[in-house]
Amino acid sequence: MKVQGQLLRPLREAASGDAVVVIDQRLLPHRLAFETLATPQAVHHAIREMVVRGAPLIGATAAYGLALALRADASDGAVEAQAEWLKGARPTAVNLAWALDRMARHLRALPVAARAAAAWALAGVIAEEDVEVNRRIGEHGLPLLRDIAARRGVGPGRPLNVLTHCNAGWLATVDWGTATSPLYQAHEAGLPLHVWVDETRPRNQGASLTAWELGQAGVPHTLVADNAGGHLMQHGQVDLVIVGCDRVTARGDVCNKIGTYLKALAAHDNGVPFFVAMPTSTLDLAVADGLAEIPIEERRGREVTHLAGRTEAGEVVEVAIAPPGTQAANPAFDVTPARLVSALLTERGVVPADESALRALMADAA
Ligand code: MRU
Repeated sequence: MKVQGQLLRPLREAASGDAVVVIDQRLLPHRLAFETLATPQAVHHAIREMVVRGAPLIGATAAYGLALALRADASDGAVEAQAEWLKGARPTAVNLAWALDRMARHLRALPVAARAAAAWALAGVIAEEDVEVNRRIGEHGLPLLRDIAARRGVGPGRPLNVLTHCNAGWLATVDWGTATSPLYQAHEAGLPLHVWVDETRPRNQGASLTAWELGQAGVPHTLVADNAGGHLMQHGQVDLVIVGCDRVTARGDVCNKIGTYLKALAAHDNGVPFFVAMPTSTLDLAVADGLAEIPIEERRGREVTHLAGRTEAGEVVEVAIAPPGTQAANPAFDVTPARLVSALLTERGVVPADESALRALMADAA
């Protein structure tokens, strides 16, 4: 996507061919800065510390991390060990394991001497595929948006009001975003659009990243406190909800950023369609019951007890918002049961969140 007229991606290969360059998402929206990752350790750190974040982006970045690791040792043992180590950087989003398993499967079949170059090439393929997958999610989602817009009387002076949670935008992918892809395509197509952006405590991906992205693209949006969504829905101010996902189970349960479940409950109670944009790389058919089986990342309590932001003087500082020593819990994701999901928007089409539809979708692809 474009930032101040310049095409940008949150992940690209360095011209030297021996590193990747990423946007340091911890610094947005106050500063757009890039970090060069030249070692597997740097990649692992970037994923763990959320320099890069978002399910598809951490998968693609990890693929490059494995490619960098294999430059030193591409034996079977190294492929296994490095892939397992990179998978441990963050536990919940399945794209990380998906990308690394795909890399390892492909590489094991090759002679050791050919693996490092092949790994770099496949990481590039995974990254490019992500762009196309997300573009297609938008293509499939756009008619849904048009349909709801027609039914809700959208027109000049009455935009389609969409609520989103966290950041499932281009920053969370290699391009387009998942949840934002239909939004960007609708905006480009001239559909009057307005997005309610949940701030998404505790790390504020909505306030810091989604609001920044939408602003750069000129998409009208309003930032709201996480707790405002239910109220807006009760007052008819949300036509649909669209969110991303970090792992979707065989029966269609959706794991996504903490707070997603509450939005789905409010949407259900108010008859508001609740859509999940899901690249099939985020589908984990090995897991059925999302609540029981998906590991939920527990992050540092400091993310809850403190807030970071920019002062009027332009300095970025962190401040405490709780009494010193307050104990804080910080589960980073929750699970929305399939029954609360209106449909999944995938690169292969729009499908219901149920097991037979999801298995058929994957069987057709195979
Ligand atoms: O903890 P994060 O910021 O990596 O979590 C990201 C989300 O929950 C996104 O909404 C999800 O990964 C979808 S990304 C297209």
